Amino acid sequence: MSVTDTISRKAEFPGLAGEWHYLDTAATAQKPQVVIDAVTRALGEDYATVHRGVYARSAEMTLAYEAARRRVAGFIGGKPEELVFTRGATEAINLVAASWGAANLKPSDRILLSVLEHHSNIVPWQLLAERTGAVIDVCPLTDDGRIDLDAAEAMLTPAHKLVALAHVSNVLGSELDARRAADLAHAVGAKLLLDGCQAVPRTRIDVAALDCDFYAFSAHKLYGPTGIGALWAQGEILAAMPPFQGGGAMIDRVTFEKTTYTSAPQRFEAGTPAITEAIGFGAAVDYVEKIGLDALERHERALVRQLREGLRGMNDVTLYGPEDSLGIVSFALDGIHPHDLGTILDEENVAIRAGHHCAQPLMDHLGISATARASFGIYSDESDIAALLAGIERTRRIFR
Ligand SMILES: Cc1ncc(COP(=O)(O)O)c(C=O)c1O
Repeated sequence: MSVTDTISRKAEFPGLAGEWHYLDTAATAQKPQVVIDAVTRALGEDYATVHRGVYARSAEMTLAYEAARRRVAGFIGGKPEELVFTRGATEAINLVAASWGAANLKPSDRILLSVLEHHSNIVPWQLLAERTGAVIDVCPLTDDGRIDLDAAEAMLTPAHKLVALAHVSNVLGSELDARRAADLAHAVGAKLLLDGCQAVPRTRIDVAALDCDFYAFSAHKLYGPTGIGALWAQGEILAAMPPFQGGGAMIDRVTFEKTTYTSAPQRFEAGTPAITEAIGFGAAVDYVEKIGLDALERHERALVRQLREGLRGMNDVTLYGPEDSLGIVSFALDGIHPHDLGTILDEENVAIRAGHHCAQPLMDHLGISATARASFGIYSDESDIAALLAGIERTRRIFR
């Protein structure tokens, strides 16, 4: 199937200059020139601090920072006052655990995770469980690598206070039926946190339609800068959450006797924020919006189908995850370690990821230590798939 008539945008990405086949967008996306320009301007002629300047440049920067918040919140169907800028998805999940979790969980309360979670959506809950005496349950997967919501339904009890699941798996590309997960969580009085790291760059998100309570994601996987991400939380829940970190910008009045805090979302943004990164985040959202999530999703789905077909044609390849995985294909070659494959592919200017992908419990479940993973973005095209398949053939010849 031909997908070249959809989107090929390599020229907009300086990081893709030359013959380089970048198939590691699930780890981090390359940056379009418009995002680089927006960050450069913010670091250059527009640069000043936010939220405290009495001079015009600072007031303008504050407007730009808050405009970025509005754009990022709107991108996922949320309101700006419900969106906290964080260092990334990892910090967003840790914020929920440290603030909402510590305030709401008591011994014997339960948290439901799944086998396929990224370590970022496991370890914060383990730290919280150690502190509060809460207990973690792990939802199994279906045979094709989706979170098994029938099993979740059977496992959930009124003791569950939180369900925290990946919206799209970073290893298998499988997509959660997030609306059903929300209904199941709410039926027992639990909150639903979605780890949206891999979903936000690949499919249209509407937090209101999903009816989730928390949504976490990172800018750098959405063609934006590193060092910034977002936590969206339902307004009433966020308003009731205690501070996460203390410092400047999150207070109302400080005395040694008692400090009072400002309202959300600033209450959760202690210190000078990642100003230029937030502006780059807003520019990345604008860039993706212009292309359109629907076109992007169609593009990545077509590439996934094409790669899976190519890999299936090789009789010594194991393919993981469902047929309709979103932008991500994990696989293994019989008798060749994924690291060896990745190293030889690098000689062919093909960049894939090889390893456990920060999902060691999923690797244990699959009975392997690593997979090879190819993941697509806005700029991926058939030439990348052809280079990957040719590189796999060469690796085979070297090893056999
Ligand atoms: C599903 C998932 N969750 C969480 C993370 C952590 O994101 P970050 O490292 O940007 O905080 C990643 C990154 O690989 C991911 O793929």
